[in-house]
Amino acid sequence: MIFILILILTASVRTHTHTTAPQGRAPQTAPVSESAPENETAPVSVSTPVSETAAEMTPESVGAPVLQSRFHLYHAGSLFEETCALRPYSRESLNTCRYNSSDPLVIIIHGWTMNGLMEPWIFHLASALKLRLQQVNVLISDWRTLALQPYPAAVRCCRQVGQEVAALLTWLQEVAQLSMDDVHLIGYSLGAHVAGFAGSHFRGTRKLGRITGLDPAGPHFEGLPALDRLSPDDAQFVDAIHTFTKSPLLPGVGIKQSVAHVDFYPNGGTFQPGCKISDIYSNVYQYGLQGVPKTIKCSHERAVRLFTDSLLNTSRPLLGFRCRDNSAFSRGQCLDCSRRRCNTLGFSVRREHSGGKGLYLRTGPETPYTVFHYQVRVLLRGPLELLEAPVSVMLNGTGGQTGDVPLILHQHSSGQVLSSLLAAGADLGLLSSVRLLWKGDPLLSGWLRRVHNIWNIWSGTEPEPELHIWRISVKSGETQQKWWFCGVSSNVTRLQASDQQEFTLCRLLHKRSSTHTRRRTET
Ligand SMILES: *[C@@H]1O[C@H](CO)[C@@H](O)[C@H](O)[C@H]1NC(C)=O
Ligand SMILES: *[C@@H]1O[C@H](CO)[C@@H](O)[C@H](O)[C@H]1NC(C)=O
Ligand SMILES: *[C@@H]1O[C@H](CO)[C@@H](O)[C@H](O)[C@H]1NC(C)=O
Ligand SMILES: *[C@@H]1O[C@H](CO)[C@@H](O)[C@H](O)[C@H]1NC(C)=O
Ligand SMILES: *[C@@H]1O[C@H](CO)[C@@H](O)[C@H](O)[C@H]1NC(C)=O
Repeated sequence: MIFILILILTASVRTHTHTTAPQGRAPQTAPVSESAPENETAPVSVSTPVSETAAEMTPESVGAPVLQSRFHLYHAGSLFEETCALRPYSRESLNTCRYNSSDPLVIIIHGWTMNGLMEPWIFHLASALKLRLQQVNVLISDWRTLALQPYPAAVRCCRQVGQEVAALLTWLQEVAQLSMDDVHLIGYSLGAHVAGFAGSHFRGTRKLGRITGLDPAGPHFEGLPALDRLSPDDAQFVDAIHTFTKSPLLPGVGIKQSVAHVDFYPNGGTFQPGCKISDIYSNVYQYGLQGVPKTIKCSHERAVRLFTDSLLNTSRPLLGFRCRDNSAFSRGQCLDCSRRRCNTLGFSVRREHSGGKGLYLRTGPETPYTVFHYQVRVLLRGPLELLEAPVSVMLNGTGGQTGDVPLILHQHSSGQVLSSLLAAGADLGLLSSVRLLWKGDPLLSGWLRRVHNIWNIWSGTEPEPELHIWRISVKSGETQQKWWFCGVSSNVTRLQASDQQEFTLCRLLHKRSSTHTRRRTET
């Protein structure tokens, strides 16, 4: 399916190449904006300690390798024309562009391009980096001349472009005393692998500080050895956000396998809320073949948006939870933060190795993407006849309540426990009650259904299926708090199909926890 998609996309590149070839070199004037220094007349000043003598103004680039990619220093604004073209091997250009060699360096690397345009996300991300870090050099790598080719050809150029980034870094190391610790490469799609190739150049020596892969490209990279794609070896710390990977139903373009020290899979990593695959038809209808990339971009580019948001919205960080896979996460089995099993998605990620296991989370469809994760566990007593149960659950707390959220409770292999993950749009605060409606239509396993049918024939009756609920426990992923809820009888609550029951905080456990706190306050 990907192959077909790529064929379509390749065709679309061909049809659009003539009209949308990359523009020539952008004007070299320094950007004029609110955040630029007041004394515009003297741009070559204290900010650029690199150039000391007039002799250095002579062209140094004579004999220097010719690079296919260009590098632009970002100061402010949302247009490529506002950036400053930095000529590698020219110290003068470092001064002209007001490169501050005291500051760390972030390089943003774009991916495959179908229209040869610098896309708006680049400037949103660059501006967010400036806003958050203040003292930072943000460079935009422009390798559109190579990226604007059929996908397989662009893939073949990644290693070369990576080497060019490495060449620039090596030069900055010499002329601007740039420490590799202070380098952060952020690559999107194919750009993530470009960053990996750039990083692998420094393997033997001092590794780069950090590489962030934003939905690293999958086709032609999935399953390759670490040397041929982004991998944890490429920097001191590598993080990745996967948002549009291949699934049985959808032709993703992101890589599914772990490529980093910490790999995040928002919403399972395959498709993102707020994006509709059905839009592909309306987009194609509206934009022709350009409609295909538009549809793909929604989920693919979500990785960029989540990362950009993480720079801006520090009050509501997104937490990812280490889990075996997305289906275990959906069953609510992985909301545990003990022993560093959860981490913050985006810029403020804790630098550690999550042992090859992905970190999973749900998000909302738009900014702010934060949702609040709750693990709902229904503990049963008596005969267990269910594999899974469709229910709707309402959680009520001091911070608000959810509506009736439809969930599928899944049976644990270990015992009489059914569980699910509930993602709430708001922080519910301290929980006080849970309402559970069993929608009935129990999904009995094959042999149980047969037993039931035999029973019905023998007895001539249809026994009403019942859930015998002992307790409901709810745990918040964000606060790690856990509550226990009991039915009114505080023993087993019988719930028949289409019934609903209210469960309130268990008194017994309430008492126990208050004696616990009393004991703690006494000591
Ligand atoms: C601009 O230059 C004037 C005089 O040269 C100086 O007094 C002033 O502090 C400078 N402003 C800034 C922001 O550097
Ligand atoms: C260059 O960066 C250093 C350290 O971040 C800062 O103190 C200095 O003011 C910067 N220079 C200019 C001209 O912004
Ligand atoms: C951050 O999140 C808040 C909601 O908590 C939202 O109102 C705000 O717009 C977000 N800010 C940014 C920059 O996304
Ligand atoms: C939710 O809980 C509050 C107390 O925390 C209570 O006053 C309110 O009636 C409850 N709402 C529902 C719908 O159960
Ligand atoms: C609750 O269950 C226990 C045994 O599990 C039983 O001894 C007790 O009588 C029950 N209490 C009520 C109120 O049903």
